Parts: sequence; structure tokens; C-alpha cells
Amino acid sequence: PYEPTAAEAAESAPTLPTDRRSGCPFDPPAELTALADRPLRRLRYADGHVGWLATGHAAARAVLADPRFSSRYELMHSPIPMAGLEEGLPPAQTGDIIGLDAPEHTRYRRLLTGRFTVRRMRQLTERVQELTAECLDAMEQAGPTADLVTAFAQPVPALMICELLGVPYAERERFQSRVATLFDQTADEQAKGEAYTGLLLYVRELVVAKRAEPTDDLLSDLTTTDLTDEELAGIGGVLLAAGLDTTANMLALGTYALLSNPDQLDALRADPGLAGQAVEELLRYLSVADPIPRAALEDVEVAGVLVKAGETVTVSVQAADRDPDKFPDPDRLDLHRSATGHLAFGHGAHQCLGQQLARVEMTVAFPALFARFPTLRLAVPPEEVPLRDRANIYGVISLPVTWEQEEVA
Ligand code: HEM
Repeated sequence: PYEPTAAEAAESAPTLPTDRRSGCPFDPPAELTALADRPLRRLRYADGHVGWLATGHAAARAVLADPRFSSRYELMHSPIPMAGLEEGLPPAQTGDIIGLDAPEHTRYRRLLTGRFTVRRMRQLTERVQELTAECLDAMEQAGPTADLVTAFAQPVPALMICELLGVPYAERERFQSRVATLFDQTADEQAKGEAYTGLLLYVRELVVAKRAEPTDDLLSDLTTTDLTDEELAGIGGVLLAAGLDTTANMLALGTYALLSNPDQLDALRADPGLAGQAVEELLRYLSVADPIPRAALEDVEVAGVLVKAGETVTVSVQAADRDPDKFPDPDRLDLHRSATGHLAFGHGAHQCLGQQLARVEMTVAFPALFARFPTLRLAVPPEEVPLRDRANIYGVISLPVTWEQEEVA
């Protein structure tokens, strides 16, 4: 078969589209959907590297399941320009499980999965119900308008992750803005570095405190393993970061999607038992954690294409979760469909560790919100809702909502 030279490929390879302003805010950028005719195609990276983009569900899954594709940042090229990282991405810092391969990754992963126990998740379900009700009380008292992001979507996961780790919620100003900087695509590398260092110092203090005086939480539990304080600080920092923005954006963008699809919202209101299935469909439809890059450690054939050692493949989770071969009529939000097999939590060795917690949070939070405010609606025209389309977790920057106060029981 004809193989284009690198120069020819660079000429024709598009860069990763991220702009959604022209279309439906819940759909992937139009140029991305237009690329979906081939499951794997060329992509030009920010530094000029010509690698690949996986848009088909089967190809995306194959890449994520294959240990010949590495998660090590320093081997990857970034699909999106990152200020201060023109020279390439630095390796994962100590305890950053997301950027490691086996066997280092396996060691951390085993220590962690054993501690996301059913008992702990059940305890957290009770807490999430209480904490959600408290957030809704506060929102109701301050109403009848609110920014759903700051009043509900951010505090619910923040309270939960604090509860899980044993982090005092009152100290949230020491980590919340730092996590926001880490996920902000517009922040430069120096600002991100400072935010990460600040986050690590904070978690390290906590680790020392937990060692001295253990409490009933994940961080205390982890101090009984052979992990060093530095490793524990890294792991704690990653858990805080991974658990905050993802779930917050799912809650805010999910609410926006449901308000924009009143027939689906009515179906959920009529049958709260639908919540579990609805959450899976919202995860698929919105796929907020996107994209996921990997680096080929050796030559690998995917979807009939030879990916060469050293090339980066970017998995477009959003495109894969809208693959019509996997999900019929994929652009329709349909809470009654089976969205099983979506890649919103990733796939393979790095599949999201916090997915049970995230599911619990969303299954409790969405129905509670719509039960408390039966007349909830956007307070601005839909096109005025500001989108986070320059961040690696997609969502909304704010979501102004309002409701009829007298109807609230
Ligand atoms: C990994 C999505 C909530 C902790 C991942 C990955 C995705 C993801 C796509 C895979 C990244 C990769 O393969 O490179 C989400 C979404 C969430 C969510 C959409 C909410 C709706 C959470 C929560 C926690 C968490 C609540 C913490 C309690 C982690 C960790 C990893 C991870 C530690 C790394 C696992 C590893 O590398 O082995 N998540 N996540 N996530 N997530 Fe989540």
C-alpha cells in the first residue's frame, strides 16, 4: 500500500478541532464528526508531529486496551498547544498513576482498587444524599436564581472527595482553585506547576497528620501501606484533581442537557428508577473527559492501519461514543437506551478508579435536583451559556438557572 511521506501526511493531516460554538453544545465539534468516516486517521499535533486520531469506537477501545500503547506523558505529543510545553511533556510526578505504565502503574493501582471497597462506597452513598440535600437547601434559600456550577455541581463532588480522602472541606480553598488551574487549558505551564506544587504540599501535610492520628478514610488507610509520604501526597493530589472537575462538569453539563431535552427530563422525573441508566447515557452523550492520548511503544496494527513505534494516537472519546456502529442514532439523548460500553471512564488498565463514586454522586444528585426544583429552567438564552471548550474536561463555565419559588415545597 502507498504510504505518504511525513511531509505529505503533515500537509493533509488536520489538527484536533475543539470549537463547538457553531453547533449544538453537546455534540462534538462539527469538523470532528466530519472526520468520522475512518476509525483511525492522521492528526497533526501541536509540535508538528504527525500521529493519529481514533474516532471509531472499536479502534478507540483497541488502543486503550493494548499495553503496547503507553500512558507515559514524556513519550507523547500533545494534540492541543500547551503554553510552556513546546519542548514536550514532562514525565509523571511521583504518585501520578495516570501517566505511568506497568509495572509501576500496577503497583499503585492494586493498592488503590483494594481500598475503593463496596463498604466504603455504601457509606459514601448515605453521605452523598445528606450533602446533596444540604447543597439544595442552601441553593433554595439563596434563590430563586443560582449559578448551578458554583451552587451545586462543584460542591457536591468536592464534599464527596473530601469525605473519601478525609480532607477537611473547610480547607477547600487550599485545593479547589489549584485544581481548577491544573485543568485550565489556557493556564501556562508555570501556573500549573505552581498549582500542582501547592496541592502536593497541602496533601503532604495531611498525610503527616493522618500518620500521626489516623481517621476512617482512604488517606489514613493508605498510610498503613509501604507508600512513602511523597507517593501518598502524589496519589492524594491526583485523586483530588481527578474527582473534582470531571464529576462537576458532568453534573452541570448534564443538567443543561436535560433542560434542553424536556421529553427526556420528563421521563426521568416520571421514573426516578431510571436514574442509573440515565447517568450512563449522559456519560456517553457528553463524554466530558476527552481526549485521551497514548504513545505507541512498538509498531501496532489498529483498524487495518499500521501505527509506528513513537507515534501518538489520540483517542477522541466523544467521537467514539457517538459511533453509529456502536450506538444507533448516536446524537440523540435517549435515557432509555443501553449505553453500556461507552468509553467516558476510559478503558483498559487506566479505566477510571473513581467511577463507582462518580456514579453514586450522579445517580443521587440529578433526581434530587429535579425533585427539589420542579420548575428549574435556564435563566439566560441557551446560546449565552459559556462553554469550557478549551479545557481537557468539557463542560460549562457557569449555568445560570431559575425556578418558581412558591412552587417549592
Ligand atoms: C482515570 C473519567 C470521576 C479518579 C479516568 C480516565 C477517565 C476518567 C476517562 C482514564 C484516563 C486515561 O486512560 O488516561 C472520569 C469521569 C468522571 C471521573 C468522566 C466523572 C463523571 C472520578 C472520581 C475519581 C476519579 C470521582 C476519584 C475518586 C480517577 C483516577 C484515574 C482516573 C485515580 C486514574 C486511574 C489509572 O490511571 O489507573 N477517569 N473520572 N475519577 N480517574 Fe476518573
